[in-house]
Amino acid sequence: MPRITVDGHEIEVAEGRTLLQALDDAGLLMNGVDVPHYCWHPKLSIDGSCRLCQVEVEGVPKLQIACNTPVQDGMVVTTTSERVQQAREGVMELLLVNHPLDCPICDQAGECKLQDYAFEYGVDASRSREPRRALKKNVDLGPTIVFDQERCILCRRCVRFCREVPETGELVVQGRGDHSVIETFPGAPLENDYSMNVADICPVGALTTKDFRFKIRVWFLEDVPGVCTGCSKGCNVHLGVANNRVYRYVPRRNDAVNDTWMCDEGRMSYKRIGAADRLERPLVRGELGVPEASSFEAAVEAASGRLARLRDAKGAGVLAGVASPHATNEDLFVFRRLLDALGVDAAAVAVPTGRSDALLIQPEKAANAAGARALGFGDAAALCERIRSGAIDGLIVLGHDVLGEGYLGGVAALANVDTVIALDTHASDLQRVAHVLFATRVAAEKEGTLTNHAGRVQAVCPAVEPRADARSEGEVLAALGAALGLPGFDGRFDAHEVSKALAEAVPAFAGASLDAVGPGGAPLSGGSAR
Ligand code: SF4
Ligand code: SF4
Ligand code: FES
Repeated sequence: MPRITVDGHEIEVAEGRTLLQALDDAGLLMNGVDVPHYCWHPKLSIDGSCRLCQVEVEGVPKLQIACNTPVQDGMVVTTTSERVQQAREGVMELLLVNHPLDCPICDQAGECKLQDYAFEYGVDASRSREPRRALKKNVDLGPTIVFDQERCILCRRCVRFCREVPETGELVVQGRGDHSVIETFPGAPLENDYSMNVADICPVGALTTKDFRFKIRVWFLEDVPGVCTGCSKGCNVHLGVANNRVYRYVPRRNDAVNDTWMCDEGRMSYKRIGAADRLERPLVRGELGVPEASSFEAAVEAASGRLARLRDAKGAGVLAGVASPHATNEDLFVFRRLLDALGVDAAAVAVPTGRSDALLIQPEKAANAAGARALGFGDAAALCERIRSGAIDGLIVLGHDVLGEGYLGGVAALANVDTVIALDTHASDLQRVAHVLFATRVAAEKEGTLTNHAGRVQAVCPAVEPRADARSEGEVLAALGAALGLPGFDGRFDAHEVSKALAEAVPAFAGASLDAVGPGGAPLSGGSAR
């Protein structure tokens, strides 16, 4: 493998890489070795148009663009010389000649590469006296994106993205020279399943999402690492959080899962976290059959009392459990232990499904179906038949996916079940039949791990405080186990301890506990990497 030296850092490089790729591979790019760049993006083809990434290569008379210079063994590169600094200043000056400098009203301010690089590598005065190009602002490119032509620096990332990633090619450069502008074809708006990624990769404030623009200044946001739960891909995200509210998801790079992309539907799924139909506290059906708000302790007592009476009267054979593919591995491990301790064999998972594609979007519309299966929960279709036939008198059900098509197809099949103990995050028809309903937390409100479709175990952590008295499923089930007097249950639930116990007890999870997986996740034993 070629060895090169960049600013004194000696690195070994894979064959066929360019200088910028080599620095990115080595984790040095803008992290020890600063090579500012606009048009280059690690997951797009090379454009070489912005000229900002120029560096000095020993023995080569002219400066070279790092993004398109192939590495050769023995190369010695300098990124900090006076010549390089002058070249950067020149490029920045040209880029700013026509820029409107409307940072105070620009949504990108605070995370804008033009601001950052102008501050670090630019000059602080303009020599240009000519009027700036007057271009259009607020151009509606489609259902998700607004375009400000004046702010565009023509790096063509957005054009290449549309051609190369969703392969829809809606964006083009129209015109030549200083008449060049980014455009859509007439009658063909920017509209694809991944359209909002163009706002992430636009280095300036030219492309912004209709959803996020003008909601909040980005410097008020805390970026909390998390996982999208819209499907079983488990795309890595940053949750933008302020005032105990999630304002947006943006993709977090994980080359083993989602590269640097996410789908629009998943991106918008952050709204489920703070939705008005979130359940806030337990409900217990009163004597008149009406659900009444309850304390957590009273709900646990009511649920355990009903389950104990049924088990004592008819045996554990009439009890069943339906797991949720939205719950964490830790929640589901506690569920597994609870069902085993009760002697319940009838246990399965109900997984919602939908459309998929060859890029990221998976058919299973939940983040942890693979984790549920690894914990021994098979598909709930057969169990639903037993419920319909009247063989089940007591059901503990996590989430309301069991009401979907392919499972119970509605709530009527549960109307005659003697005891329904439900745990759920959002309001649903389950409320109409549940004898006790616990409000539970979504992934953004708890600690734990989720296993994606390829068997990669990934950690989530609390980004926001849950509303009112919502608990994790593991906490509810641990309390239920203790109230039932089951062996191994003392009522406590600590996600780290449970995760450790899970990794020790279930061979597939060996080495994939909450404390072991790290920010990029780790494969289940036997799971594939992607
Ligand atoms: S809109 Fe943004 S991403 Fe597209 S060419 Fe202009 S600056 Fe680059
Ligand atoms: S592909 Fe799935 S996990 Fe990724 S962003 Fe879309 S819904 Fe979320
Ligand atoms: S990043 Fe190299 S020319 Fe644009």
